[in-house]
Amino acid sequence: MKVLGLSFGKVNANCDILSKEALYGIHAAYPQAEIRFINTQRLTIGRCIGCGACSTSLERGKDNDCVIKDDFQMVEDAVREADVIIVAAPVYVLQPVGQFKDFVDRFSCRHDVSAINWVLDRRRSGQLPGQAGDYPIERLKRRTVSYISVGGATTANWVSMGTATLHLFGISAMMKTIANYNAYKMGITGNPYLNQQLIDDMHELGRRTAEAFTLPDEEIEWFAPTGDGVCPVCHQNLLAVNGTTSVECPICGIEGKISIEGDKLHVVFPPEQQARARGTFVGLREHTVEIQGFGAICGPKIMANKDFLAQRMERVKQFENRIRE
Ligand SMILES: Cc1cc2nc3c(=O)[nH]c(=O)nc-3n(C[C@H](O)[C@H](O)[C@H](O)COP(=O)(O)O)c2cc1C
Repeated sequence: MKVLGLSFGKVNANCDILSKEALYGIHAAYPQAEIRFINTQRLTIGRCIGCGACSTSLERGKDNDCVIKDDFQMVEDAVREADVIIVAAPVYVLQPVGQFKDFVDRFSCRHDVSAINWVLDRRRSGQLPGQAGDYPIERLKRRTVSYISVGGATTANWVSMGTATLHLFGISAMMKTIANYNAYKMGITGNPYLNQQLIDDMHELGRRTAEAFTLPDEEIEWFAPTGDGVCPVCHQNLLAVNGTTSVECPICGIEGKISIEGDKLHVVFPPEQQARARGTFVGLREHTVEIQGFGAICGPKIMANKDFLAQRMERVKQFENRIRE
């Protein structure tokens, strides 16, 4: 079993402490596990520039490595190798630190299980060049993951999107999530070692994440020592509302129904909606089909308006000059 701890916090600070304790929990339960730890703070992980080179390259029968050369590749290789992953990130302004999202943006599009299988199916049928077997399919292997969101605030109010955003890390690669641990209150905790419950929770979080790797999905239990969320898939408490009794989980993209009984709110996400959550193959495939349809819709529209658009685009390209005229 290969285990990776990934900390986006300061070196030897709260995220490092908590994720390393989770790794100690794994080590105690599985002494044979190969454990690796990476702190990303001093690494250069640039943002996705949206060049599309990775998808184009895959559709041309080649590999889909990122064209930007920085420390991202090293971290990505470590994630690819791992079976069990513990991710810890500090909350900066309500969400995980930006470097985390930069990593997720570059990782996700290139490990989307549905999108890659879509291309490989077309390689097999000869619609796209290349051999399906050329793609290192082990990159899409099953992995288990747990997230630790670390915040300074005394209430959950100032870490409102911490665990939810961390959950995006494993969605496209269909990683099986075991816990979204909300470790806030660091401003008054001082140091995680001054709260033994926190450390015990980390050991259990680590152990369970590793154990889950050895279990079939249906036997895995969600680990929520600090309380569970309303969504039965991502276990978050965020809901998007539209003025009706229908609500959506913004993380999973699934629809639920709300009802109120006294001062209690009930939220039910039917099984058929849970089965199409964003982190399932069905959910990812909905998006692949949507994206593949863009060209057929926009191509003719753009061609039919080529001259008009070229002329209008001058407003954007010459903006600085025009605004001074
Ligand atoms: C720029 C910045 C913004 C922060 N924003 C928040 C916040 O919105 N909510 C919160 O609870 N803590 C916030 N914090 C506190 C950090 O989450 C906290 O110090 C955490 O322990 C940092 O992780 P580390 O110790 O592993 O580096 C912020 C810290 C910084 C530097």
